[in-house]
Amino acid sequence: MTTKNQELASWVSSVAELTKPESVVWCDGSEQEYQRLIDLMLEEGTLSPLNSETHPNCYLHLSDPQDVARVEHLTYICTDDPEAVGDNNNWLAVDDAKQKMHALYDGCMQGRTMYIIPYCMGPVDSPYSRCGVEITDSPYVVVNMKLMTRMGARALARIEREGTFVKGLHSTGELDPERRFIMHFPEELSIMSYGSGYGGNALLGKKCHALRIASWQARDEGWLAEHMLILGLESPEGETHYIAAAFPSACGKTNLAMLIPPEKYKDWKIWTLGDDIAWLHKGEDGQLRAINPEAGYFGVVPGTNAKTNRNAYDMIQQNTIFTNVAQTDDGEPWWEDKKVGEPSVDWKGNDYTPGNGPAAHPNSRFTVSAKENRAYSSLAEAPDGVPISAIIFGGRRRELAPLVYQAKSWEHGVLIGAGVASETTAAATGEVGVVRRDPMAMKPFCGYNFADYWAHWLSFAERLENPPKIFHVNWFRQDAEGRFLWPGFGENLRVLRWIIERCKGTVDAQETAIGYLPLEDGVDIADLNIDPAVWRALISIDDDQWRQEMDEFGDYLDSFGERLPVALRAQHQMVKAALT
Ligand code: GDP
Ligand code: PGA
Ligand code: MN
Ligand code: MN
Repeated sequence: MTTKNQELASWVSSVAELTKPESVVWCDGSEQEYQRLIDLMLEEGTLSPLNSETHPNCYLHLSDPQDVARVEHLTYICTDDPEAVGDNNNWLAVDDAKQKMHALYDGCMQGRTMYIIPYCMGPVDSPYSRCGVEITDSPYVVVNMKLMTRMGARALARIEREGTFVKGLHSTGELDPERRFIMHFPEELSIMSYGSGYGGNALLGKKCHALRIASWQARDEGWLAEHMLILGLESPEGETHYIAAAFPSACGKTNLAMLIPPEKYKDWKIWTLGDDIAWLHKGEDGQLRAINPEAGYFGVVPGTNAKTNRNAYDMIQQNTIFTNVAQTDDGEPWWEDKKVGEPSVDWKGNDYTPGNGPAAHPNSRFTVSAKENRAYSSLAEAPDGVPISAIIFGGRRRELAPLVYQAKSWEHGVLIGAGVASETTAAATGEVGVVRRDPMAMKPFCGYNFADYWAHWLSFAERLENPPKIFHVNWFRQDAEGRFLWPGFGENLRVLRWIIERCKGTVDAQETAIGYLPLEDGVDIADLNIDPAVWRALISIDDDQWRQEMDEFGDYLDSFGERLPVALRAQHQMVKAALT
């Protein structure tokens, strides 16, 4: 396989000239190719087989212990104008960045195979989809891209038809954290990644293309690229509403997207369309419509068990690549809170010793095709996506944020999204559990200045006749002993029901300064055994805490200076005024 596209052909040869690989392989995305690369890695020892009786076609990859998460401090957006990128990103001038990267890439693939991966983000026949080509020296990246994207011949055919594609160059280099960078060039639709094999840094279709580059393109072209799951909620009457929800990494997107309703609501059904990224366009019908650009899941393993999420648990019993989990004596994958089996080898490949830290890395991941999920919606393949009724923002807040509240308008909803703050998690390197601002859960992913991004969001009030209603949720309120106040997981269905009823106008709410909250009997919790005082705490706000929150949020907004949209400032003042 080669290509008729001149630009692609000459880019590939210039990369080969720079990186000097031993051989070059064009990937066709076939099952045979997948198996060939799995066998190659098994032989090399970069992949181990797992128990093939209980876990057919499951494999384990243990990464370098210093390469287990996204590296936000080493991630850059490189443009002409630093103001376009904003303080929410690291910036480098285009030429400086390229010089730095070329020095790293020089000869970096000597003795290695260079793989060329044409891929399509979104259904190959969708007008909303976008293609890219990733060049990598990692067979682990190729097999993950096979599970996560529509990769190979059909994507290449679309690239040859359309002519445009995102160019992503990746080399694992020597995995030295001092020689690790993830650079984005949105003005020329290209990405350069060096020194990491971790998903978010190395599978360039995902965060780099489908969020950072795509958010920039979306601003120019009038759509949105968001860190959102997409689900369908089907009632017993057979009515389905679609919801998109943005939570920061490791804050519950994958779980919500494949939620299993509790026994009492077993006639309800959740359909998964996507678990991490949504591209939102105004459709022919004037509705905001969503597609999932991905074709698989790169999910957090710890915490997944038959009780918290049977769908996710069953989905990863076969045809799954595990990264950085532990193993049992029988070669089964093991992780914290799996509730079955005992670890014998930890994620570093050492004998497991209690007291030596968790057996599986807290950011250990599974990679699996979306087709393995029994709740996968066939509409995830629909070229024009699904119409979105509600948008939910959320975060991990042990205090302050109530279980759920609704924005008073689209503009107020944009303020709520901009005000998202959440405790940091193991999905990125750095301290865990510190509250930080993470507007729209896009702090690590928005490829341009947040002030301009909020202006773009605000513009949808005019673009859409009937914009989705906007909500905020928090599953993670805790008591003084660190116990969660809300049972979460399947029980979150009760909150989704309230959200849809609010969209339909069939349930009343209490108006507060920060938005509409449920009435005490607005959400059905009768059978949940929640202490009435706890329930009241979950659905009320503490004015003092919120005044302080709005002051801090105001300072944050001020840091964007003149660029901050006036309408957002006005929304902030309205909430502040209502609190006094
Ligand atoms: P994502 O990274 O945003 O997709 O988040 P996941 O769905 O993978 O969840 C991240 C972690 O949060 C996992 O350990 C889950 O078990 C846990 N989690 C997910 N949903 C809930 C919930 O409703 N309540 C609680 N307490 N934990 C949750
Ligand atoms: P997550 O995806 O949102 O499922 O954690 C990976 C990431 O955001 O790094
Ligand atoms: Mn994510
Ligand atoms: Mn996830």
